[in-house]
Amino acid sequence: MINISKACCLVLLSALGILIAYIPILARPQDASQSPQIATAPVVNKPSADATEYVGSETCKTCHEDMPSKGFFKNFEDSPHFVTTLDDKKRPEWHGCESCHGPGKAHVDGGGDKSKIFTFKNASPEQISTRCLTCHQSGHEQSNYARSAHLQSGVSCIDCHSPHHPKEAEFLLRESSPKLCYGCHMDVRAQFARPFHHRVNEGLMQCSDCHNPHGGFERHQLRTVAGQDEVCYKCHADKQGPFVYQHEAKIEGCQVCHSPHGSTNPRMLKQNQVNLLCMSCHSLNANSGPSATPTFHNQAQKYQACTLCHTAIHGSNTNSFFFTP
Ligand code: HEC
Ligand code: HEC
Ligand code: HEC
Ligand code: HEC
Ligand code: HEC
Ligand code: HEC
Ligand code: HEC
Ligand code: HEC
Ligand code: HEC
Ligand code: HEC
Repeated sequence: MINISKACCLVLLSALGILIAYIPILARPQDASQSPQIATAPVVNKPSADATEYVGSETCKTCHEDMPSKGFFKNFEDSPHFVTTLDDKKRPEWHGCESCHGPGKAHVDGGGDKSKIFTFKNASPEQISTRCLTCHQSGHEQSNYARSAHLQSGVSCIDCHSPHHPKEAEFLLRESSPKLCYGCHMDVRAQFARPFHHRVNEGLMQCSDCHNPHGGFERHQLRTVAGQDEVCYKCHADKQGPFVYQHEAKIEGCQVCHSPHGSTNPRMLKQNQVNLLCMSCHSLNANSGPSATPTFHNQAQKYQACTLCHTAIHGSNTNSFFFTP
């Protein structure tokens, strides 16, 4: 049954939720010209302050025990949202079915009148997400959803999550990740199919190790580690240093040299010949920018495999030319 942490969580959610949830959402301009692809349907059944408009989940059960499908209500009892029905300190708009579908009295009095209940069908992504964020806005992970590339491109919570019919019980996902993501990101699927790739398809890591699908402050919805450092350091701490001699190329990010999803080149490098990669910054005779390669670095084969000599390419504590770690 309900445990302490869940109870605490609910109390917090309610206190914070009411305070914060609507402010950033409602403050956003709902200008249709900014998101022309979003059709705005009228919202039926907004949360109401009038407790008598609510009937409680047990009443919904009387008709929806096996409707629209067998075990419909039982499924709900087994899902994480069932805890919301157990909280007797909260007002009815925080409870069970009606916390998502809105007050149900009119729907029940109408013998199941569909026009009197929020069904999620034809609702805009903003409207849907606002409902979910009533409770989830205060969650660390979701707090930036309003500014995410996903919401701004018309993707709502229920494109990825399904409260009633999840394919993956964990996190109520519509589809397991990365299949879920590939459904819309075909180009990324192709990148992870390349011979040298991070092992996401193999289940060793997740898209969400590097990205927050709910958005954040970084470009490409990337996660960061402590101090806003690159997400890569979470697993490749050895590349971070601090080094006495940093390779300043890293200032531009690991992806100036690596393709983070996958590559046809070993070490997921962006170019198939290391020398071309290096020369894209260290030209043979540069007057500005990164130092030119010394003239004795002629085109002889010996000098083509740059990292044979400059082995500590990410930085060194002993040698300013990165010959030794
Ligand atoms: C008196 C029986 C009855 C009760 C009680 C009842 N419903 Fe319904 N509900 C129905 C019927 C019948 C339908 C199907 C209507 C149709 O398909 O035309 C329905 C459909 C729905 C739908 C789906 C609409 C759609 O677009 O498919 C939702 C959502 C819903 N009910 C939510 C609730 C909630 C939440 C409660 C409790 C607050 C509740 N119902 C209580 C009878 C009931
Ligand atoms: C966490 C939010 C949430 C809660 C709680 C919730 N629903 Fe839903 N419900 C949805 C969403 C979202 C849909 C739209 C279909 C989908 O995405 O799966 C939906 C769809 C439905 C439908 C349409 C048929 C279907 O299977 O999709 C019915 C009926 C329904 N809900 C009834 C209920 C009843 C009854 C309860 C309480 C036992 C309930 N819902 C609790 C979010 C919720
Ligand atoms: C693009 C797909 C996508 C969208 C859109 C999305 N989510 Fe998620 N969500 C995920 C994935 C994947 C996970 C699994 C955990 C992870 O990998 O971060 C998750 C996890 C969660 C979790 C549990 C984990 C946690 O730490 O909080 C909650 C709650 C959640 N999402 C709520 C929401 C809400 C609310 C919305 C809309 C405001 C939303 N999600 C929109 C993909 C999505
Ligand atoms: C009444 C508040 C409330 C509303 C509204 C609500 N949720 Fe939740 N949600 C919760 C609670 C409470 C939990 C359980 C948290 C826990 O177990 O720690 C939860 C859990 C989740 C999880 C995590 C499941 C897991 O396996 O960890 C996801 C995903 C999620 N909700 C998505 C949604 C989506 C999508 C919507 C909108 C359709 C929504 N929620 C609406 C309160 C709510
Ligand atoms: C190892 C970390 C990492 C993993 C795992 C990862 N990404 Fe990325 N992703 C990045 C980085 C870094 C960028 C930015 C690349 C750049 O700036 O050139 C990016 C860019 C993107 C972009 C925007 C640019 C583009 O290529 O379209 C999308 C979309 C994306 N990733 C989706 C995904 C999906 C979907 C998955 C899982 C299948 C995934 N990523 C897994 C690190 C990662
Ligand atoms: C319903 C379709 C859909 C699903 C499912 C989906 N995305 Fe997206 N995603 C989009 C759209 C549309 C955009 C915005 C346009 C773009 O940048 O491609 C986007 C943008 C992104 C971006 C930001 C790209 C940038 O350049 O800023 C990342 C990262 C991303 N998605 C990752 C994911 C991950 C990870 C998943 C799976 C958990 C996922 N997406 C699931 C449709 C989807
Ligand atoms: C969640 C942990 C994790 C994160 C975050 C991560 N990596 Fe990795 N990375 C790995 C693992 C594990 C391997 C090696 C094993 C494998 O999958 O083949 C690897 C391998 C690599 C390799 C290839 C090594 C080789 O021997 O071929 C490169 C290059 C790389 N990562 C760069 C990056 C970059 C750039 C980022 C940030 C965009 C990043 N990684 C983020 C876990 C991670
Ligand atoms: C200046 C280009 C450049 C930058 C920037 C760069 N790398 Fe590399 N990286 C390389 C080259 C070249 C290799 C292959 C070295 C070799 O073959 O000996 C490599 C190899 C790797 C490897 C696999 C071999 C090993 O040493 O473990 C990992 C992991 C890696 N890089 C991670 C990263 C991460 C994380 C970042 C960002 C902090 C990063 N790289 C930034 C050029 C770069
Ligand atoms: C994104 C641009 C970029 C790339 C690609 C790059 N470097 Fe650098 N590198 C720099 C910058 C900036 C410095 C800082 C010092 C400077 O101005 O020369 C630097 C410094 C160095 C130094 C130290 C010498 C000095 O003058 O301080 C060596 C050696 C070096 N790079 C070798 C390489 C090699 C080998 C590669 C290919 C694996 C490579 N670099 C790729 C930008 C780059
Ligand atoms: C056979 C070993 C070797 C190879 C291979 C090699 N270098 Fe060097 N590199 C050196 C030596 C030796 C120096 C000079 C160190 C000194 O001045 O003390 C140097 C210096 C440099 C410097 C610093 C120049 C300056 O004036 O600060 C850069 C940049 C550089 N190399 C880039 C490259 C690039 C790019 C490649 C691949 C095309 C490459 N190196 C291949 C041995 C090598």
